[in-house]
Amino acid sequence: MNNPYIYIKGPCNLKGTVEVSGAKNAALPCMATAILTKSNVCLKNIPEVEDIKIMKKALEDFGALISLDKGTLSLSLKEIIKPVIPTELSSKWRASILTLGPLLARNGYAKVSMPGGCPIGDRKINFHLEGLRLMGADININMNSIEAQCQRLKGIDYTFPDVSVTGTENLIMAAVLAEGKTILRNCALEPEIADLIEMLKAMGANIRGKDSRNLEIEGVKELQGCNYRIISDRIEAGTYLLLGAMPDNELEIKGVNINHLSSLISVLKECGVSLDIDKDSIKVCGKVGLNSINVTTAPFPSFPTDLQAQITAFMLFLKGVSRVEEKIFNNRFQHIKEMKKLGADLELKENFALVKGVVKELKGNCLKASDLRASAALVMTALKAKGETRIYNAYQLLRGYENMPGKLRALGADILLKEE
Ligand code: EPZ
Repeated sequence: MNNPYIYIKGPCNLKGTVEVSGAKNAALPCMATAILTKSNVCLKNIPEVEDIKIMKKALEDFGALISLDKGTLSLSLKEIIKPVIPTELSSKWRASILTLGPLLARNGYAKVSMPGGCPIGDRKINFHLEGLRLMGADININMNSIEAQCQRLKGIDYTFPDVSVTGTENLIMAAVLAEGKTILRNCALEPEIADLIEMLKAMGANIRGKDSRNLEIEGVKELQGCNYRIISDRIEAGTYLLLGAMPDNELEIKGVNINHLSSLISVLKECGVSLDIDKDSIKVCGKVGLNSINVTTAPFPSFPTDLQAQITAFMLFLKGVSRVEEKIFNNRFQHIKEMKKLGADLELKENFALVKGVVKELKGNCLKASDLRASAALVMTALKAKGETRIYNAYQLLRGYENMPGKLRALGADILLKEE
């Protein structure tokens, strides 16, 4: 679809059950991990979203044979023909950087254009490059591409200067075939990393310290293939949970890993949302008059930056003034100006926003999505606005939410994905 936009006619009161899809941010590193073996890899619960399609294309360009059907991805990369990701592919998405470590580990050479992805702030990759250089990679950056080569990578003892999700993932994938032992300190703890470690162990990798900030990896000569099921998407689940907590909505979210949402659950309980939590599902119903809240984003297990825009949308319907502070990215409030076009009352300061709840009725308008999670927040807000809303640049939503318009229509929303 060229120039897709989301059409919404609100207000919509949503009722029903929604099934969470597989986690995009687990599927991406797990697909990149398949580079590390000549054997067949089968991944289940893969969400059919644009970022996954780009990773699939990149792997095919490397020489992989891949099929993706109803969430099951079968992949074999017997021989790497062309370890290169061109700009037109790499510039669209952040996860291109995740192929650098595995390509060096398997093949000793990689040429990856500088990664793109959400324009939510500095998307530095200095930790990735610093770690790989210490492992023996010779890395040159010219214009817009990273060219790297090495003999066999060597184990290192490396401390991340700051917590980085894909930085941790990249160095884990580089280390599993490196010579000797690697110790990674100050690693990220996001559940997607534990998922990657579980998959690598299933392939024969020797990794100790899962779910801790310090990992010990003993390099092995080669890895086997595996059958592995990806975890469910905690950010998609959190998005629907916040939607269900908005006034006049009543949802059951199924296929949830409750432990991955503890920070959001405690915030929702704090403001008085009634939740009925079962083994892998949560029932939530929204009401007006809930207390305002203060939220600050930080690395897992704290409140995730990937739910910051969505909780801002939820805060619009609370009593009084709520506060949301973004401490991970330096440009992740682009949804604020768009929400104001619907009549929302928000005040943006340097790295936090004040959200004045329940001010007056929101009215539909034309909006533009800036990034993946902002697009979801604009959908959430527009569903409660009176009249018609169009959200342009809807490609951003399609990058990371599997069939969101379809899932919302099943809950009673008047929403369509259209093209200009
Ligand atoms: C991952 O991005 C996720 N993307 C992001 O999700 C998520 O917002 C982010 O982690 C934080 O949780 C994927 O997993 C594909 P970081 P990543 O490296 O790895 C600085 C979404 O919506 N940093 O943890 O790129 C960096 O500038 C996306 O699904 C360095 O300084 O994030 C940032 O301020 C958006 N040097 C902070 O660390 C580095 O080498 C966190 O970045 C790397 C990072």
